Amino acid sequence: MPSLKLEVRFATVGSPDLVTFFIKGSPLPAGVPASEFDGAPGSIVLLRDKNQRTLVVGLGDKDKIEPDTLRRAAGTALKQLLKLGSTEVALDLTAFADHVGPAVEGAILASYKFEGFGKDPGKDKRGVLSRLQVIVKENKVTQARVQARDAEIVSGISNTIRGIGNLPGNMLTPAILAEKAQALAKGRALTVKVWNERHLARDGFGGILAVGQGSGSVHPPRLIVIEYRGAAKRETPIALVGKAITFDTGGISIKGSAQMDEMKFDKMGGLAVLGMMLAAADLKLPLNLIGLIPSAENMPGPDAYRPGDIITTRDGKTIEVLNTDAEGRIVLADAIAHARITYKPSAILEYSTLTGAVIMALGHKRAGMFTSAEKIRDAFIAAGKSTGELVWPMPIDDEYKENVLSEIATAKNTSFREGSACSSASFVKLWAEQTPFVHFDIAGTAWTTKPPAHLEAGATGFGLRLTLAALRAGLPV
Ligand code: BES
Ligand code: MN
Ligand code: ZN
Repeated sequence: MPSLKLEVRFATVGSPDLVTFFIKGSPLPAGVPASEFDGAPGSIVLLRDKNQRTLVVGLGDKDKIEPDTLRRAAGTALKQLLKLGSTEVALDLTAFADHVGPAVEGAILASYKFEGFGKDPGKDKRGVLSRLQVIVKENKVTQARVQARDAEIVSGISNTIRGIGNLPGNMLTPAILAEKAQALAKGRALTVKVWNERHLARDGFGGILAVGQGSGSVHPPRLIVIEYRGAAKRETPIALVGKAITFDTGGISIKGSAQMDEMKFDKMGGLAVLGMMLAAADLKLPLNLIGLIPSAENMPGPDAYRPGDIITTRDGKTIEVLNTDAEGRIVLADAIAHARITYKPSAILEYSTLTGAVIMALGHKRAGMFTSAEKIRDAFIAAGKSTGELVWPMPIDDEYKENVLSEIATAKNTSFREGSACSSASFVKLWAEQTPFVHFDIAGTAWTTKPPAHLEAGATGFGLRLTLAALRAGLPV
């Protein structure tokens, strides 16, 4: 990300392009015929003055305005202005001081674009946002500065993890992910430990090793553990665990070729967790957090694990492998066991592109949230509303657990197709034992082909903004 100067003021300086927000039914801006602009959400009209462009963005009806309305409207505006070559933009939020956070977030998220690796990246004449001014009434400047700064931190980190998420499997292997995590942690109040294949074997991480062994010694697996201590030492940490399969072919139970390229996004749970740790440090959250990111490439090959194999995980539990494409739960089992045994956390929050089934159940707008911890569940529903990263509660009772119990091991990694998002969640939960546990199945939300106004096609960073909002509101753990 090129550096961005963010300022909160009560009047613009210089001659930025101006964005104003319009509530349906208000008097139209001078010179705009009613036939051209009705103020519906996402509608825009561009006014040109001598030396300034003003972009008016519709918000729709006043009583339907939510944080996401401003987030999307700012996103629409930024995309449009950058297309016109803008580099300096001012958001007129004098009437929306309570929505400074979402508006800044929308603007910064929309300013990220995956450049790709074309021959002539320069041919895109798109502007690069270098200065963003936020305009509020004088008596709101102090409050707005705090909101704007927080939004800048979180959306900037979101753009960073989206950028890594969009990298293909040949450019982003488990080892490269670990290096990136170490580089990003540098200069922040974070410590990073990385287990390579020898360390994984020494410490009994049979699940991560099994999934990664199809890649032989070419792209071996890693476990990345990031610690953040923002509270007193005696305070129990919260563990954040994220699946990072850098490419999921399915292994010996190989997938079909249609859309297999999208399986480069099978690392997005891990990247969301990386983002949460970076943001916790930058925001100086008064919490202790441990981020655990098990990473492997799931490949067929002479060393690949097979259907029928029995694997022993970090805590001695065993897995009967019935389908090598159900690999996420296997690497998660190891990481969750490690979190539980080593850190005794007050809660384990886990993020994974775990099942196609959750997409059948909920589509692409909501992630499945599986937990029996009711207070945590409610906190995440609220955080979903304020961040626009929506979650929906799904069941994780014992009836699903029975589906995954095995005759010859602690559990088997697949069972019936019916209800499989739920039985998969129950499988993962076994490794959390009695620790309060939340599983987020982000298979439908981690990347998008139909982006909302503040995002573009590709990795969304889903889970990062959601979880930070929940943590900052004081997660009841
Ligand atoms: N990474 C996939 C889940 C997935 C599929 C995410 C499609 C996003 C889009 C996961 O590892 C997987 O392959 N799950 C299988 C499990 C099955 C073999 C029990 C699935 O959902 O089909
Ligand atoms: Mn798979
Ligand atoms: Zn997978």
